[in-house]
Amino acid sequence: MKVLHIVGARPNFMKAAPVLRALKGRSGVEQILIHTGQHYDAAMSDVFFTQLGMPEPDLNLAVGSGTHAWQTAQIMTRLEPVVLEHKPDWVLVYGDVNSTAAAAVVCSKLLVPVAHIEAGLRSGDRTMPEEINRLVTDQLSDLLFTPSADADENLKREGIAPSKIRLVGNVMIDTLVRLLPLAEEQAFNGLPERYALVTLHRPSNVDDLAWLQALLKTLTEVSKDLPVVFPVHPRTRERMEEVGHLNCSPGLRLLEPKPYLEFLALQRRASVVITDSGGIQEETTFLGVPCITVRENTERPITVELGTNRLVGRDLSALRTQVGVAVSMPATRPKPIPLWDGHAAERIASYLAPGC
Ligand code: UD1
Repeated sequence: MKVLHIVGARPNFMKAAPVLRALKGRSGVEQILIHTGQHYDAAMSDVFFTQLGMPEPDLNLAVGSGTHAWQTAQIMTRLEPVVLEHKPDWVLVYGDVNSTAAAAVVCSKLLVPVAHIEAGLRSGDRTMPEEINRLVTDQLSDLLFTPSADADENLKREGIAPSKIRLVGNVMIDTLVRLLPLAEEQAFNGLPERYALVTLHRPSNVDDLAWLQALLKTLTEVSKDLPVVFPVHPRTRERMEEVGHLNCSPGLRLLEPKPYLEFLALQRRASVVITDSGGIQEETTFLGVPCITVRENTERPITVELGTNRLVGRDLSALRTQVGVAVSMPATRPKPIPLWDGHAAERIASYLAPGC
């Protein structure tokens, strides 16, 4: 059996790594790893392959950055001949980035079966490019591997046949479970004992420059009481340069994007995490670290219902209040989320390659 994995952007890598490992143990399975090149900086890509123990991609399509239409079209144009050449039995696509949706469109038109890993998540917000990618990918996929029961319900509501849906759990948590012991060994020079960890990269937060400035002002205020550690995504850095906000106050420490292990260690030790990322809402829930999400909605409601996540939208005084609540809260044991147990990828491998 031949399986083609498509990855392209930072959040894909920690999802694909455990599936590659699980299928590697199955006899008769040939795996081919294609990197679209959506993310290309070493700090956004290469370092993840190294730390996650992933094989070098067999091919990099080197698409680079561009508008959504341009980038999606480039991925489709460059991927089509590769799929035709390899004639895979399954193409695996991950998450909700442009590479995911582009690959699903290409393969479904070539009648090549597509399996979507992390299917069924919905924010209900079609202004998010990722929501469009999720809707398109799920409609076109032949097998939909979901991380939680709410995702199954979303898919059924959209008319996806239940026979295509498999609730397997969260592959990103597989990677976290495997690498947390290594992350615990990471040493940092001069890291304060208590700090807020911040990540921001959603267009809705960083491309609206007036809002970005207001948000940075609030983070600067927070940093007077609680040091703020902020690894800055390239998109965000560009925007911060535009608004002239790179010379920050002493409590606000701007860093380069962090590799997987360092970032996991930073999350683990943080008093609170302030983010607009999807994956970080899940990782903080698993770790039991309070998370404040600067978004109006989430495609991961389980992190609010069972986890540590609080949505504050554009309410900056709620953000300040939630930081206060988080730092004064006694540490509690995180509630386990069903099937977020480190074995989701093995369940996927059993469905894809039964008897191998
Ligand atoms: C993409 C995903 C988003 C994911 C995020 C994680 C889509 C629609 N968005 O957003 O879901 O949460 O990745 O990081 O697929 N850039 C670099 N170096 C790189 C990559 C990007 O400098 O290696 C800069 C470029 O200026 C680029 C910008 O970042 O234009 C945005 O990159 P892009 O991949 O388009 O979107 P992200 O914001 O990273």
